[in-house]
Amino acid sequence: MPITGLFGPEDFGNPAHSPNAPAPRRALNHKAPSVPMPSLEWTPDVERATAHLYEKVKAVIPPVEWPFMAPYIKAINELKRERNAVILAHNYQTPEIFHCVGDVGGDSLKLAIEATKVKADVIVQCGVHFMAETSKILNPSKTVLIPDSRAGCSLASSITGEDVRLLRERFPGVPVVAYVNTSADVKAEVDICCTSSNAVQVVESLGSDTVIMLPDQYLAKYVATKTKVKIIAWKGACEVHERFTGDELRAYREADPSVQIIAHPECPPDVVKEADFTGSTAHMIDWVRKNQSKRIVMVTECSMADNVQAELPNVEFVKPCNLCPHMKRITLPKILDSLLYMQEEVTIDPMIADKARRSVERMVNLKN
Ligand code: 13P
Ligand code: SF4
Repeated sequence: MPITGLFGPEDFGNPAHSPNAPAPRRALNHKAPSVPMPSLEWTPDVERATAHLYEKVKAVIPPVEWPFMAPYIKAINELKRERNAVILAHNYQTPEIFHCVGDVGGDSLKLAIEATKVKADVIVQCGVHFMAETSKILNPSKTVLIPDSRAGCSLASSITGEDVRLLRERFPGVPVVAYVNTSADVKAEVDICCTSSNAVQVVESLGSDTVIMLPDQYLAKYVATKTKVKIIAWKGACEVHERFTGDELRAYREADPSVQIIAHPECPPDVVKEADFTGSTAHMIDWVRKNQSKRIVMVTECSMADNVQAELPNVEFVKPCNLCPHMKRITLPKILDSLLYMQEEVTIDPMIADKARRSVERMVNLKN
């Protein structure tokens, strides 16, 4: 069924709203690091020490590029041990990060669940800011670092905690579900969080005939096609997925009727309609592993196809290459700096974190 209502900041005249304001980068600490500065030279020793990692990515990283990456990879992996740190890497990170320095890789749901289990002192979040906040919310005693705090998200910046309070005044008693792609402020105001892996399950878990779902209008529209619960949505969108079009996908299929098209539910409805399968980044990867079709059009952020290609070199991926500019702020040199200088630490007001934790934990604790 179509969504029941669609609201945005203009419907409330909320002065607290500042759409797409880029997060200012904190002043970086350029004091001498408390650990020795590693050498970043390409040497036979570096080549030997990283050879097993190159094996994992050789299908997607040309040999000529490896000597520039390998010294950073070796230095980062050594510093992780020194700092007692783990790296959580989202599926949209580039292959040298995802496969060569990440300790845990996955979609937003998996990274959130793994964050609750981290025993190490430090979490380095290779993803975007809301993901780092989610790790801090779920494991507050850990030092959570993000290599570039400007790694935002167009969905997270489309809504504020004040917007949620105004929505609740407009729709008293209607439960509110927030996609994890939101700030801690927003998570603190809602009843439960969801990811694209579990959105339908979360909406139905509330036992209400109407639910407010924010901030992604397209995920909300997708969920509305899968449930009888009436959905009131927010006008946010992912700046990467909203660029795909149904026409573009029809052109791929005309050129090769055997292609399989798989899409993320943050895509607009005409794109989802053209897809043979729609699911979260983790569900898309599972689908590829199971089906191993010859040629697959991956309708999502471009690096994910590279990461799966590294694992499945025989599948041919057609990649309408939309990159997330926020995910791409995270690079090997910035990860190294993050561990050298212990920057940029993610902090959340403890009162907000406590309220936000209830919403995220309620999601994490939902039984399948
Ligand atoms: P997933 O939860 O599917 O990993 O998606 C996160 C995201 O930001 C997609 O754009
Ligand atoms: Fe946000 Fe879209 Fe980037 Fe995901 S891909 S982090 S939803 S802007």
